[in-house]
Amino acid sequence: MIFQTTKENISSLKERLQISYLRSANLPTNTVDGRDIISGLTQRPKSLPPQYFYDDRGSQLFEQICELPEYYPTRTEAWILRQYAGEIARMTGACELLELGSGSSTKTRLLLDAYQTLGNRLTYVPIDVSGGILTESAQQLLRDYPALHIQGLVGTYEQAFAQLKPTSLPSRMICFLGSTMGNLTPLECDRFLSQILAALDVGEYFLLGVDLQKPKQLLEAAYNDAQGVTAQFNLNMLEHLNQRFAGNFNTQLFEHWAFYNDQLNQIEMHLRCLQAHGIYLEALNLKVEFETGETIRTEISRKFDLEVMQEELQATGFKPLAVWTDPQQWFGLILAQKS
Ligand code: AVJ
Repeated sequence: MIFQTTKENISSLKERLQISYLRSANLPTNTVDGRDIISGLTQRPKSLPPQYFYDDRGSQLFEQICELPEYYPTRTEAWILRQYAGEIARMTGACELLELGSGSSTKTRLLLDAYQTLGNRLTYVPIDVSGGILTESAQQLLRDYPALHIQGLVGTYEQAFAQLKPTSLPSRMICFLGSTMGNLTPLECDRFLSQILAALDVGEYFLLGVDLQKPKQLLEAAYNDAQGVTAQFNLNMLEHLNQRFAGNFNTQLFEHWAFYNDQLNQIEMHLRCLQAHGIYLEALNLKVEFETGETIRTEISRKFDLEVMQEELQATGFKPLAVWTDPQQWFGLILAQKS
């Protein structure tokens, strides 16, 4: 069938779409507090929060990363979802899908397909800090899923949790895919799981995708791709800060550095300073000096153990219902229920 873009079609798309900006997203001004940046850059060792990867350009670069031969997580998780989405949909029944860090929503389509097949009402609540990619993918989803309603939230997870509306569907499932949880330290992770629990009613669901421990070589290759896309993604954080906080970072004075820390079971991404210099972020009135060889840690990406993760979920107040993995056990998907 050829889908003609008539006026009716466009208005029906609009009726099914609602996007709320939970902050002055991507505005290069002061209303954004940036306290996390000040504290990260004034501590030693220096660090920056990984959410600042995702301006519109960063989200595009991340999409490219997902296609790289070395970056196995996305396609492995997609394989698992393709195998088991039907089972997930049958287990939960009709429910609102709320996704933390939805990005392009590519993998979510596998879930939407399964829920659509069940013939239930379909509501999707994508949450992302990047308004550009959220809006674009929401519009495409509405064209591809004629019964779908979307209530997008542009902002951080904390902002979104604070403003969640009750769902009119029988249940809700919070999806946290792609191992984004790996960005959190164990302490932050505990707190975050409690926040997710608090956002759900008893009997509602949590679908969690986690990257698993595996040989260091495979892990390090995934964060040091031959085409240098991950390096561009890492350096783009500085461009994002320049744009958003009126800064003068020169990306030529930094290089990408990623390695696996096998004590902590985490990939660490850093930006290493190649030549001593100072920078200024005008909107934060922040001056920072860098020494040659000094690094800014931009991300940790923890690699999990499925048994330990299930115990943590249980300790938080979730009941793990099912665990799925791929034949190589590179990635895991856990469906849990608030008990
Ligand atoms: C989106 C946080 C899961 O840690 O693998 C990809 C981000 N960083 N390549 C990850 C990322 C470098 C990704 N997460």
